[in-house]
Amino acid sequence: MKLRKVVAAVLAGGSPPPILRRRLPFNPLPASSSSDILLSGNVNRLFFARFLDCGRIDGFSGKFLHGYRRIGWESVNLGAARRFSSSPASSVERSYVNPGLEADSLVLERIADDVEVEDVVKERGVSEVEKEAWRLLERAVVHYCGSPVGTVAADDPATANNKLNYDQVFIRDFVPSALAFLLKGESEIVRNFLLHTLQLQSWEKTVDCYSPGQGLMPASFKVRAVPLDGSNEAFEEILDPDFGESAIGRVAPVDSGLWWIILLRAYGKISGDYALQERVDVQTGIKLIMNLCLSDGFDMFPTLLVTDGSCMIDRRMGIHGHPLEIQALFYSALRFSREMLVIEEGSRNLVRAINNRLSALSFHIREYYWVDMRKINEIYRYKTEEYSHDAINKFNIYPEQIPSWLVDWIPDKAGYLIGNLQPAHMDFRFFSLGNLWSIVSSLAMQRQADHILNLFEEKWDDLIGKMPLKICFPALEYDEWRIITGSDPKNTPWSYHNGGSWPTLLWQFTLACIKMGRLDLAQRAVAAAEARLSSDQWPEYYDTRAGRFVGKQARLFQTWTIAGFLTSKLLLEKPEMASILTCDEDMDLLEACACGLNKGGRKKCSRISAKSQILV
Ligand code: GLC
Repeated sequence: MKLRKVVAAVLAGGSPPPILRRRLPFNPLPASSSSDILLSGNVNRLFFARFLDCGRIDGFSGKFLHGYRRIGWESVNLGAARRFSSSPASSVERSYVNPGLEADSLVLERIADDVEVEDVVKERGVSEVEKEAWRLLERAVVHYCGSPVGTVAADDPATANNKLNYDQVFIRDFVPSALAFLLKGESEIVRNFLLHTLQLQSWEKTVDCYSPGQGLMPASFKVRAVPLDGSNEAFEEILDPDFGESAIGRVAPVDSGLWWIILLRAYGKISGDYALQERVDVQTGIKLIMNLCLSDGFDMFPTLLVTDGSCMIDRRMGIHGHPLEIQALFYSALRFSREMLVIEEGSRNLVRAINNRLSALSFHIREYYWVDMRKINEIYRYKTEEYSHDAINKFNIYPEQIPSWLVDWIPDKAGYLIGNLQPAHMDFRFFSLGNLWSIVSSLAMQRQADHILNLFEEKWDDLIGKMPLKICFPALEYDEWRIITGSDPKNTPWSYHNGGSWPTLLWQFTLACIKMGRLDLAQRAVAAAEARLSSDQWPEYYDTRAGRFVGKQARLFQTWTIAGFLTSKLLLEKPEMASILTCDEDMDLLEACACGLNKGGRKKCSRISAKSQILV
């Protein structure tokens, strides 16, 4: 039987022939089991969810269904959905194509060839560059037990023998892919990704005999085929997560759980499937991440304390402590968790803790991370060594720390949130992701958000240049580079994380611009990227001060470059979608924030006075 026909037969409800039948990696659950009956315990949840996802017939959707859309997408999908929600696990549900088998790659190849890009992007006029991007994004899709579960970080034929971990699905990298799929109306891959990564949460892996905290999400995962029963004849697939124990530098993926929550919320908003976030296992997942983030430590600040390289910048770059990127994602995750958590006895205390942290965090960032001409001038005249509750220079910042580049660089009507704040240390570097996500999440006030975009506009050549966007500005050079990066040859000045240009950041820029009514800026940046990305083969990053060269060690066909571009195009086309991905100011938080600013103590104050007190 031809493989395509086999898939069609399975979709139509028939049993697959033996070659496609695979033993389940776990014992099937009793016939009464369904996705609605979930166990809240962590280990039990892992077991249960994994069983279900392997057994689902609707796992044939996504890539497989592209090839079959014309022969009955709706009936197949509805049938599958019905089976998933309530029916007992049938023999059909327990069968799926083994992507590890040679035969399967044939199916994938043929179907990939069959995917008509016109189908994908419907009737709208799309450029050749976009069409290519969609094809590449589809090619990057990873399958597990026959279902699409994510996208590989990069699919660069030139580095086929030295893939490192670029053949894995990274949590943070998948976010723009997920948004592109969701905005196109394809939610299955995102749903699968969310549920499978949930299964991996708090896996029993250890780093040098030490287990990561419960609730930690991996940085990435890989689908591996392992021999069944020690024989080399039959294989089963497993998801193999990396919590940093294999990663270069053993960096902790703090941002993964935060991105997972952000994506979960976006999935609900765009697909309308709110039932997913209400599931017991998903609620437990949110609580575990929040509990981990809110657990007590030695820290004195409301910001999240992390080690170096715990986010997109996953190498030593002097961002240990309280880096802005983590704080902006943390703020979003707190707000979205509060929105998604079902209020019941078991979640009341957590929601209270979330609220307290939110108001303290937004006050801290808005007040202490913000710099503009006025604030820099204030720091310039700071007194130091103040010992008292009402010290002006609370963190004992020595004015000599103001870098010489900043004095001439900062425009009059612009400002930004600094990269990091610690005792006696302000990291004045500008980090794009943290600033953009502060706009998107409303961690930054309206006025601050406006001023951050003014900075992009006025410093276009520095922050956008020939290829959007600079990951940070300026680069560390000479002794600073030697001491702070540890002489990292990959992070030389104006390369990679040290002032390189990362096209993936385009989608966050586009989102922030749309939110602030600055479509013109986003269009300009997207046009600059569109002019080069395809001919440069979709690089991971660019080098040099203006982003003129493809990065020295950049992977080509980097998925989040491709997906970031597509998401930006889709957002520009449907700017109304941006509003469901962003957050507005929370007036209750603003009030609490203003109470904190009141030097006379924690007196209640009105919303109006709150507004007038903050950075006028
Ligand atoms: C690099 C980047 C990291 C990304 C990974 C996969 O390590 O620094 O942010 O997730 O590549 O693309």
